[in-house]
Amino acid sequence: MDWGLQNRLSRIIKPADGKAVMLAVDHGYFLGPTESLEVPRKTIQPLLKYCDSLMLTRGVLRTSVDAHFPIPVVLRVSGGSSIIGEDLSNEKITTSVKDAIRLNVSALAMSIFVGAKHEHDSLVSLGNLVNEAGEYGIPVLAVTAVGKELKKRDARYLSLACRIAAEFGAHMVKTYYCDDFEKVVNSCPVPVIIAGGPKLAEKEALELAFNAIKAGAVGVDMGRNIWQSDHPVPMIRAVRAIVHGHQNVTQAYDFFKKLVKEGPTQNNEPQKVNKPKKTKPKRKSK
Ligand code: R5P
Repeated sequence: MDWGLQNRLSRIIKPADGKAVMLAVDHGYFLGPTESLEVPRKTIQPLLKYCDSLMLTRGVLRTSVDAHFPIPVVLRVSGGSSIIGEDLSNEKITTSVKDAIRLNVSALAMSIFVGAKHEHDSLVSLGNLVNEAGEYGIPVLAVTAVGKELKKRDARYLSLACRIAAEFGAHMVKTYYCDDFEKVVNSCPVPVIIAGGPKLAEKEALELAFNAIKAGAVGVDMGRNIWQSDHPVPMIRAVRAIVHGHQNVTQAYDFFKKLVKEGPTQNNEPQKVNKPKKTKPKRKSK
């Protein structure tokens, strides 16, 4: 593997333990100002120091994330349909590799729609993106989108979609957790990361993360189950305790409750970025 590609991957999947905590905030690309992500900067800022990488679009990156903060970026580069449109699977690559390089990203992400109307276009786009990004040593994360049909999230379907993504050259695959998740992981020759999916009670979301890691996922790329929680910072810290800290669900949930009890000032402090100190102009002595 090329040095640059390896280096970028290691910003996302931490070499110390081979695990990853990604924060997904790309939802606006088809959902618009979805609940709790209405003002992206407000949602993202307190969570930044607890995630290993951030998954988002170039628009939110440029407008809502401080360029001085050293967070690895996984840039969503596909899109083209909305939740009120006719077909969510009608996506194309919307952001160039050149612009991704300008943004100094660590990986690119795009959705594939296996079994949907635009399956062919999304898979060919994945192949093309891997070709193009590969020229510059940039890894590609394929997201196995399920559109509006949530029922499709079983091991048979997700194994098929993840395996196809890997066959097309994706370096990592992001998918949904399901029963028999080992089947999905074992038949996919590249690292598998789980999405959180729709909002669950905190303990259930921690269970989902724990079970996925136990089944062989290298990490999580969670969105709604973090920032739609009433306590986003305690929630991401509890997820982190599972992924990197080897905590079980009870331990992580107790940790979550402890952090909640400590209160919002402890947990929701805006990220401080070291800015050059302003020196007060000296008063002239009369
Ligand atoms: C969906 O296509 C987006 O890529 C999200 O990043 C993904 O669904 C993960 O977010 P959540 O944990 O909210 O499902």
